[in-house]
Amino acid sequence: MVLPGDGIGPEVCSQALKLLPVIGQKEKVEFILEEGLIGASAIDRTGNPLPDETLEKCKDSDAILLGAVGDPKYDMDPTAKVRPEQGLLKIRKSLGLFANIRPVKTFPVLDPISPLKDHLLKGVDFIVFRELTGGIYFGEKGRNEDGTRAWDHCNYSAGEIQRIARMAFKSAGQRRKKLTLVDKANVLETSRLWRETVQKMAPEYPEVNLDFMFVDNAAMQIILQPSFFDVVLTENMFGDIITDEASVITGSIGMLPSASVGEGTSLFEPIHGSAPQIAGKNIANPFATILSLAMMMDHFGLGGSAESIRTTITRALESGMVTGDIEKKNPKCTSEVGDWVRDQMKGL
Ligand code: IPM
Ligand code: MG
Repeated sequence: MVLPGDGIGPEVCSQALKLLPVIGQKEKVEFILEEGLIGASAIDRTGNPLPDETLEKCKDSDAILLGAVGDPKYDMDPTAKVRPEQGLLKIRKSLGLFANIRPVKTFPVLDPISPLKDHLLKGVDFIVFRELTGGIYFGEKGRNEDGTRAWDHCNYSAGEIQRIARMAFKSAGQRRKKLTLVDKANVLETSRLWRETVQKMAPEYPEVNLDFMFVDNAAMQIILQPSFFDVVLTENMFGDIITDEASVITGSIGMLPSASVGEGTSLFEPIHGSAPQIAGKNIANPFATILSLAMMMDHFGLGGSAESIRTTITRALESGMVTGDIEKKNPKCTSEVGDWVRDQMKGL
């Protein structure tokens, strides 16, 4: 299922989709594509940021590729009752996608455009497991009668913590065996439940070194020593914030993919937003979406194709086949980059 969404979503999705016929032929599989509405474009056409038809089709599909959701006309209007982001939150919740997996890995050729100094970028390779269907995003919200007081409740159950913690422990076990729980246990009761629950699980994973970090300190350490991290586990809102922070380490926010997994159909999306200021200009970086497609191929058990995609992206970066966020002097356009990646994939 393809959900192009808003802003640059449709242009970046179409570049990733160009690879499917090539992969299909190599792997001898057929991808059957359907497209659905979500976000501001869905509101414009149906009044609903996630029409039932989209959700039903997503439930029936094997994977979802999503572009981006969001439109400035809603950001400027805090009183809007219907908002594009509700579509994204609803699809995550309805499909039970409780774990958002965001790998952060530097590409040495991009080091010069990273805001961090070169020596900090060596060996940066970590994965954030962000809880996606609980916490303050989904707690009770409200206002008092005269509207001068508002609240958003944050709550978590031990079960909600355990199911994502299990994934994070397993992932750490297959990597450098280090798991960092990021929380605010010095202040928040929910964070203390996270700590307690994760601590209790640790003996089941004796090979994994578990440590804890307060989120304010983690925000600093991600910049001061990003190579310290291996697997980071955190709740919904902290994960939202620190993954945006982490996304600039590589040099462009247009490089980071993500997978949202859980009970229902898994969803793959770039971590960047809809970038309305550059939408429709054929200048957006499609790599985060193409790398999200690679994560989808891993999910389908097509690891060879996932690797080919990653190799091709590295080659594109090395060959200057990149958009203006990476190379200002001689940028290529979105569709040109997509065509190049497709053609290279044919030769792999
Ligand atoms: C993200 C986005 C979303 C979030 C918004 C668009 C609702 O920032 O996927 O990180 O906050 O989860
Ligand atoms: Mg975010």
